[in-house]
Amino acid sequence: MAFVRIARLDEIRPGFRRVVRAGREEILALECDGDLRLVSNRCPHQGFPLAQGGVNGQSLVCPRHGFRFSLEDGRCFQSACRLDLFVPAYDGQWVGVDLRD
Ligand code: FES
Repeated sequence: MAFVRIARLDEIRPGFRRVVRAGREEILALECDGDLRLVSNRCPHQGFPLAQGGVNGQSLVCPRHGFRFSLEDGRCFQSACRLDLFVPAYDGQWVGVDLRD
């Protein structure tokens, strides 16, 4: 798969949040303390969309059951499940994700 654009770099401001489809993945992009975090939009607990989840420091809270996930490494603070993270990729003025095999 080729580079999938998520946003222009100048769009990444406090409060930025966007869901983008990249192949079979639905990726939630969100700004957190000046960094762009890319995570799966599916909660690893029971698959609930995370797009409306609250951000608390460096963690994302699932709106379904309230499990909290680290935005740094994906670990869950309440269970053994783990949130998938993606590494941002850059192409000129764009940030996105590159899911090449
Ligand atoms: S579906 Fe997300 S915590 Fe249960």
